[in-house]
This record gives sequence, C-alpha cells and structure tokens, in this order.
Amino acid sequence: MFHAQVLTLFPEFFSSPLACSIPSRAIAAGQARVDCIQIRDFATDKHRSVDDAPYGGGPGMLMKPEPVVAAIREARRRIPSTHVVMLTPSGRPFTQEVALEYAALDSITLLCGRYEGFDERICADVDAQLSLGDYVLSGGEPAALSVLDAVIRLLPGVLGSSESAVLDSFTEDGILDWPHYTRPEIFEGRSVPKVLLSGNHQAIEAWRKSESQARSKARLRAVLSHS
Ligand code: ADE
Repeated sequence: MFHAQVLTLFPEFFSSPLACSIPSRAIAAGQARVDCIQIRDFATDKHRSVDDAPYGGGPGMLMKPEPVVAAIREARRRIPSTHVVMLTPSGRPFTQEVALEYAALDSITLLCGRYEGFDERICADVDAQLSLGDYVLSGGEPAALSVLDAVIRLLPGVLGSSESAVLDSFTEDGILDWPHYTRPEIFEGRSVPKVLLSGNHQAIEAWRKSESQARSKARLRAVLSHS
C-alpha cells in the first residue's frame, strides 16, 4: 500500500478533500493511506512556537528549524524508506512525470510550510523540494493536496478501466488529450463534431489523434511565447 505522510500545522485542511471522490475510494479500498503529523507537537518551548522573525530583518515569519526537523525525523522513524519532499515555490516544478515517479515509491512525506518560508537549514533534512507552480500560496497545504490527488489516482487499481489514467492528458510524452463531447448533440447552437456521430471508428481515432496533436502544438507555442 502507498503510504503518504503530511507534516503540517493544519491537518484539518486535508480531511474533507481526502474524504471525496477518487482519493477517498482509494483510501477505503486500502490502496493508499495518508497520515498527518502536526508540526506543533514537536515545538519545545512553553509557547509551542513554530515560527520566528528572520535574522537581518524583513517582513514575515519563518518556520523554525527545531520543530520542523524533529517532525521530519519522526516521519522517517515511522517509515525509514519515505521520500521527504518540502513544498516551496523555489522547488522543482510539479509535473505529471513527478506524479508518476512518486506513485512508484512506497512512501512520500510532504512538508508544508506557513508564513514566509522555512529556515534554510531545514533543507538539509529533506530529499527534494517541489513547487506547484510560479505563484505564491499562503502555505504548502494546497500544493501537498494536489500532489496527493495526482499521485493517488495513478496507483495500481485506483482508477477503473473506464477512467483509466493511460489515456490522460500529459501521460504520453506531453501529448494532450483530445476534445470530449457528451449529450446533447447541439448545445446553445454549437454541435458535436460530425465525425464522432459517424460510427466510423477509424475516422474517429484519426480525428482524435490529429486534434490532440494540434492542441499539444498550440500549448507548446503558448508556453514558449511566455518563456
Ligand atoms: N508554498 C507556497 N507557495 C507554493 C507553491 N507555489 N508551491 C509549493 N509550495 C508553496
């Protein structure tokens, strides 16, 4: 079973999303397990503080090294083989490839920070740093949740054949999915492409292939024009 751990100040953030849809089904079926570890439980001072002001001045507060590193060590004590990942906007970009990599592991531990970030010395205790994208979230939790969702749906047996991940966007060399249509045949004056109603499976397959290639090219051009 795939075993994820989340180090966080806000374990309640994860309860309702993981109780919905595919993640909840995977957890109920014993295909995945997610345990939250409260970082504040590892605070050592009488105020149980987990953050402090930056040396050299400046705005905001940083996650203190002692409680965070103690929480990471507890996560490694529980699962010695776990891959510890810090969520931070300065990390490696999260992609479908990373999700596939993590889904092949026995365990990941996701470290979520609040405030303006982490004391730099915490980095020595993690195996990787990961970013959800080039924007700043108010904490690592929404990023960790996205990682959990993307990874859990890739675990063997989690998706039924009708939902199979094999044909998803991004799974084949960055090739995007084709456009999908369901009933009604005409919605607000816009029709479903005729070929999909033709019953000609060869023609449908060819149309899907050419649509996904066109989309992938358009996406690539959009990405390149912004870089
Ligand atoms: N924490 C704050 N912003 C983040 C981001 N974009 N990715 C991962 N963790 C974050």
